[in-house]
Amino acid sequence: MSAAPSQVDAFHASLARASSDPRFLDVFYARFIESSRDVAVVFAGKDMEQLKRKLRSSLHVMTLAVDGAPGADMYLDYLGKVHTRLDIAPRMYDTWLDALVATAAECDPQFTRDLDAVWRAVVGAGVQMIKDAATEAPASPA
Ligand code: HEM
Repeated sequence: MSAAPSQVDAFHASLARASSDPRFLDVFYARFIESSRDVAVVFAGKDMEQLKRKLRSSLHVMTLAVDGAPGADMYLDYLGKVHTRLDIAPRMYDTWLDALVATAAECDPQFTRDLDAVWRAVVGAGVQMIKDAATEAPASPA
């Protein structure tokens, strides 16, 4: 996975600004879940407060993964396996990234078109790893 060091720095700064807005995770999940009925069905009955906390950590792990930090790939592979068990169409991962970038644009007051590309490069690499792990692994029995 590759992203220039300056992109990783710009991403960290933008993520810090966006997530200092207390609405950040609420706006993301509302936007993503409202994107389609199929997505809403996947989240029905899930503990959203717990998911918000875990999502916050996973965004940081994605930046560790682009930096090649040991262990980060293992966590993203684990996330792929978590998602294998859910009924997720491959295109939903693209919707997920679009919803996240739109949320960053809303919550980071200094968001720019260049930052849009930076979020897509940094987070998109992690999303691709999760998507690959989720779609390659055979589904485990329930
Ligand atoms: C690739 C981007 C994604 C990331 C970074 C991400 C992140 C996460 C994380 C960190 C968890 C918690 C895992 C754990 O319990 O240890 C999780 C669970 C979950 N994710 Fe995702 N997710 C992604 C894509 C999606 C998509 C596309 C959907 C649905 C359309 C989805 C639906 C869910 C659901 C329903 C759970 C709860 C699973 C359960 O507790 O049974 N995620 N996700």
